[in-house]
Amino acid sequence: MTDLRPDSAPAIGPGAHLLVTGGAGFIGSELVRQLLARRDGTRVTVLDKLTYAGNRANLAEVEADAGQAARFTFVQGDIADPSIVGPLAAEADAIINVAAETHVDRSILDPEAFLRTGVIGVHVLLEAVRGETERARRGGREHAPRFLQVSTDEVYGEVSEGRSTETDALAPRSPYAAAKASGELLVSAYAITFGLDTVVTRGSNTYGPHQHPEKLIPLFTTNALGGHPLPMYGDGMQIRDWLHVSDHAAGIDFVLRHGVTGEAYNVAGGTELPNREVIGRLLAATGRDWSLVRTVPDRPGHDRRYAMDGSKLAALGWRPRVDFADGLPATVAWYRDNPDWIASAKSGDWDAYYARQYGDRLAAGRAVDRTA
Ligand code: NAD
Ligand code: TYD
Repeated sequence: MTDLRPDSAPAIGPGAHLLVTGGAGFIGSELVRQLLARRDGTRVTVLDKLTYAGNRANLAEVEADAGQAARFTFVQGDIADPSIVGPLAAEADAIINVAAETHVDRSILDPEAFLRTGVIGVHVLLEAVRGETERARRGGREHAPRFLQVSTDEVYGEVSEGRSTETDALAPRSPYAAAKASGELLVSAYAITFGLDTVVTRGSNTYGPHQHPEKLIPLFTTNALGGHPLPMYGDGMQIRDWLHVSDHAAGIDFVLRHGVTGEAYNVAGGTELPNREVIGRLLAATGRDWSLVRTVPDRPGHDRRYAMDGSKLAALGWRPRVDFADGLPATVAWYRDNPDWIASAKSGDWDAYYARQYGDRLAAGRAVDRTA
């Protein structure tokens, strides 16, 4: 692809001012921790709506460190609100859009919020970057801001054989994945039409501390710790490629600094496992057995397998570091050690969501045939 990056684009380095949307969530807060831990003068502003998935406590570590807190600003607001986004974009050297509605099951129950944040929100951010790019061209600011869109392997859809490469067609199959693919299409359209400096990352299934307990690993960990049933969808032979959150955030940071304008990069974990295998390892780490696991009616349109080829990013010099065999027990230990965090994440609409998503399923659930 032609390098559209404007001549005046900044190198993102020490002292940069970065706007991280969704920075109170799971991956965003890890990215903020890594950016500020550089202690190289990087300034970070987080814009986060604090939906049920956003948690200010995820940023407590940086806010408690005087050196980091001095270079950190938190703004509560919606990426779909131009009056909030505009002034923040005017001060940013780069915008990293981590904000999204992120849970496939909720996208099946209520898709609209996914479209509002994933399509309109991305459009509002891109309009702000477009305005700032034009301002830079007129000499009103030194550099146009770089825009990094955090996307997902789910935009490729189900992959029965081989591994997705960055030039594969996008074929999303859930409302969540369709919203993410739509956001990406807007990003590439704006890059081509308006000459914006954009890059995209597509990360694989991510796990680690601070992940909202609606997702497989934290849900099954917290349920197992509490002695509650584990609702395994269908036969449990769906395959995901697992990536530790510290690697996912490091991959985003690497692409921010080294990615070529207009390009997308797979951030692959390199650890493909069927859900049954992940569940078996979780049971071992929590000291429970298969009697807690129930096979329940499957998720509609459930993608059987995701798998990405990570060689494009590897060729630039980046690879994940955390082995799943180490990362999973460490993650279980974090949840065991943080009951207050779990209680706060399982507050608000949690009980209503859980009853809606799992009430009938668990009632229809069966013990798992381990020989199947
Ligand atoms: P998360 O649900 O933990 O956090 C999302 C954050 O975005 C929350 O803090 C929430 O308050 C905020 N947010 C939501 N809507 C917003 C809006 N309109 N304006 C401002 N803030 C808003 O999500 P996560 O797991 O950290 O995922 C972060 C990003 O990474 C998402 O874009 C997701 O699609 C992508 N991703 C996630 C995974 C994964 O396995 N978790 C894998 C690949 C890609
Ligand atoms: P999830 O964490 O929701 O991530 P994604 O759907 O984005 O891959 O689910 C990971 C896998 O675990 C997926 O195959 C669905 C399955 N799963 C269950 O079997 N039971 C559950 O309760 C959940 C939340 C997920």
